[in-house]
Amino acid sequence: MQVNFKEEWKRRADLVENGLAHELAKAPAYDETLGRAMEYSLMAGGKRLRPVLLMAAADAVGKDGEKFLTTGCAIEMIHTYSLIHDDLPAMDDDDYRRGKLTNHKVFGQGMAVLAGDALLTLAFEVMLRQPAASAETIAAVVFEMSRAAGPYGMVGGQALDLEGEGKHLDMAALQKMHMGKTGALFRAAIRSGAILAGAGETELAALTLYAERFGLAFQITDDILDVTGDEKTIGKPVGSDVRNEKATYVTLTSLDEAKTLAQNAVDEAVAALCVFGERAAFLRDLALFLLKREN
Ligand code: IPE
Ligand code: IPE
Ligand code: MG
Ligand code: MG
Ligand code: MG
Repeated sequence: MQVNFKEEWKRRADLVENGLAHELAKAPAYDETLGRAMEYSLMAGGKRLRPVLLMAAADAVGKDGEKFLTTGCAIEMIHTYSLIHDDLPAMDDDDYRRGKLTNHKVFGQGMAVLAGDALLTLAFEVMLRQPAASAETIAAVVFEMSRAAGPYGMVGGQALDLEGEGKHLDMAALQKMHMGKTGALFRAAIRSGAILAGAGETELAALTLYAERFGLAFQITDDILDVTGDEKTIGKPVGSDVRNEKATYVTLTSLDEAKTLAQNAVDEAVAALCVFGERAAFLRDLALFLLKREN
């Protein structure tokens, strides 16, 4: 792992913080409470992994990823919307997120639904404002994002997750669910960064493979942390999956086997980067970090 990995991540995450604040300030909501509800969850911290990955994928292709911060902010808005809705009583019914009360606990369920809707739609407006990209490139990114967020992606996976409650899912069904609910947005983040940077076919294929393995390792470690994590450190409740009788990697296999599966997925993610050499050092470190993450 590079010595300055954590600093580099922090530097990029700080850019995202500033970018998000800037985007919100640019578009005040008609309703003041709605504006506060959107800001509450969007500016509550979070690892900012998806925008950081988007920028790092562009770096790997040889462009300066920071140029694509705007699209990075857009995907963080989609991700934050998915979390607000995921925590609702009708879904996982969780009270804490990013170390704070969940959106509906502060603003009520109706306003939380609307804050999520507003962040999702604002994200597409923001994407269209990406500087230094042609209309054709932006259209390709919008396609990636809409596919990943919708019924063939995150929302589709969330539906499988909901319907899987209390049921035994086999490995294939679990993988399909995870590919949707978590994998799709990681895939879109990385592919969008690559597309914005003008990646060729081989580069795009390699980064897509990296993204798919990364997303899988990420969700396995999320399932593990739901069992072994420390509530203060992860900023969300531990044991939420057990309470909701969720099918997870930990329930389907064992804690040890889940760790091995995460390790294998990370190894495959790292191997996919070989075509990029040192330009992908940060992407490699991000994948390796998954095995050690505590939040
Ligand atoms: C949590 O995502 C939801 C899942 C997809 C499992 P993150 O762990 O990236 O959440 P934040 O953005 O850091 O809060
Ligand atoms: C939800 O997965 C992922 C999305 C929000 C799309 P989880 O329900 O496992 O996420 P956490 O554990 O609440 O963050
Ligand atoms: Mg959930
Ligand atoms: Mg949840
Ligand atoms: Mg979880």
